[in-house]
Amino acid sequence: MKVSTDRQYFHNMYADADDPWSFATSSYEQRKYTLTVDSLPRERYLSAFEPGCSIGVLTELLAPRCDSLLATDIVPCALEQATKRLEDYENVMVDYRAIPESWPDETFDLIVLSEVAYYFDTRSLRDVLEHVECSTGPGAHLIGVHWRGETDYPLTGDEAHALIDERKSLRNVVHHVEYEFVLDLWERVT
Ligand SMILES: C[S@@+](CC[C@H](N)C(=O)[O-])C[C@H]1O[C@@H](n2cnc3c(N)ncnc32)[C@H](O)[C@@H]1O
Repeated sequence: MKVSTDRQYFHNMYADADDPWSFATSSYEQRKYTLTVDSLPRERYLSAFEPGCSIGVLTELLAPRCDSLLATDIVPCALEQATKRLEDYENVMVDYRAIPESWPDETFDLIVLSEVAYYFDTRSLRDVLEHVECSTGPGAHLIGVHWRGETDYPLTGDEAHALIDERKSLRNVVHHVEYEFVLDLWERVT
């Protein structure tokens, strides 16, 4: 049985490159980020949470849509870059925090899982989703965006989204599939 990706993997990735996935420079990433933000049904969110924010490129696009945005990661040098990129946004808090175990106490009306859910094994992703349910109320949105290609991660992007789809408390309201990635948005219904 596959287990969650060892956290040392992420530390090693950033040890080799400041921006290991080319988030700041790739036109593929830029287009995917634009689609992500444009898929948000509400103009503004009161309180958003983006775990696994990396160097904060997507965070910077989300920031103007949120009164408050908590962006977290587990790699200090990625957080340093995110902090610098977001220093002009007083509504954004960048913090060291590992999910699921250090889930924040706040209530959110938007949670963003961008290229992070497939690093968890099934049990841990279900833990993450239980936290999502505990920290959101009816009407809140969860958005997921994941690469669909082959990886050695515990889950594929499609498998991660299928696990989210199982939740009775979430109704899928946006479903966008391309050869390379899948983007879904769910709304809390109960
Ligand atoms: C592929 S990057 C995605 C970055 C960003 N979400 C995006 O789409 O641009 C995955 C990030 O998740 C972080 N990460 C991995 N496991 C995590 C965990 N358990 N809690 C918080 N962040 C985590 C990694 O350090 C890495 O920066």
